[in-house]
Amino acid sequence: MLQARLYAAAHAMQQRDARALLAEHPALLQGRPGDLVLDVGCGPGCVSAGLLRPAAAGRLVAVDSCPRMVEHARRTYGHQDIVFEQFDITEELTPEKRARLLPGAADGFHKVFSFYCLHWVQEQRQALRNIMLLLRPGGKALLVFLANCPVFTMYEVMSSKSLWRPYTQDFLRFVSPYQYNPQPAATLGKMLRDVGFKVTHCECRPCSFEYSSTQQLTDSLMAVNPFLNRIPEELKHSFISDCISEAMKLMSAKPTGGYESSFHTDDVTP
Ligand SMILES: C[S@@+](CC[C@H](N)C(=O)[O-])C[C@H]1O[C@@H](n2cnc3c(N)ncnc32)[C@H](O)[C@@H]1O
Repeated sequence: MLQARLYAAAHAMQQRDARALLAEHPALLQGRPGDLVLDVGCGPGCVSAGLLRPAAAGRLVAVDSCPRMVEHARRTYGHQDIVFEQFDITEELTPEKRARLLPGAADGFHKVFSFYCLHWVQEQRQALRNIMLLLRPGGKALLVFLANCPVFTMYEVMSSKSLWRPYTQDFLRFVSPYQYNPQPAATLGKMLRDVGFKVTHCECRPCSFEYSSTQQLTDSLMAVNPFLNRIPEELKHSFISDCISEAMKLMSAKPTGGYESSFHTDDVTP
């Protein structure tokens, strides 16, 4: 679904946000000996290896549902004392699967991180329940993902075009489940509490990202485009151009030649 190498080379926004959020929660990065840490939706492993290592003085397990991502992560960072496993956070968490992720008789991870993954997950309640089950009592989770985004609107626009509809008609599978929700933090906060979390903070922040050039915009958007692999080779070029031109309409052009993408919802739940 995602292009592992493309994504590894074009994920400046995701890296920026993971870094910034971790800086806001420095205690989470202070690993104590024996700490078990899980990264959900690790992608090509750059954030796990580059940013999360200090959190795990014990063992860092990074999981992704996409076999190609796991393969890429293992090849690139597997020697660095990180365990990469293929695991879908929505699948049924049998005792065998739990044991595969958790060594010995460990009763759960001390910390669970997830960056830019959960907006891909329609079965939110199941994913959150699994995260809860993977945490040990008193464990902590930092979950960061998109509530809404102009890129998802672009998917919807592309799907309304007859040329692209055959390849994109299931676009809602790839749109954040909160995209049309005016109070995403309130909804998420309630769901977290329902599955047993004690929520210390749940916020949907307005934020923006400036792509420095059309090329950076193209690389970043295509690295996460879920439809690209379905498009016949002879149509790929025009599909990419159309995606980018629709995305540009939803962003503001900057005098420097870049494009700014803004995410607006502002919602905090206590
Ligand atoms: C945009 S990447 C983020 C990668 C990395 N966390 C980062 O911040 O750069 C999202 C990843 O989530 C993975 N993913 C999507 N749905 C998932 C699921 N249900 N369970 C586990 N991983 C999932 C995708 O395969 C993809 O590699």
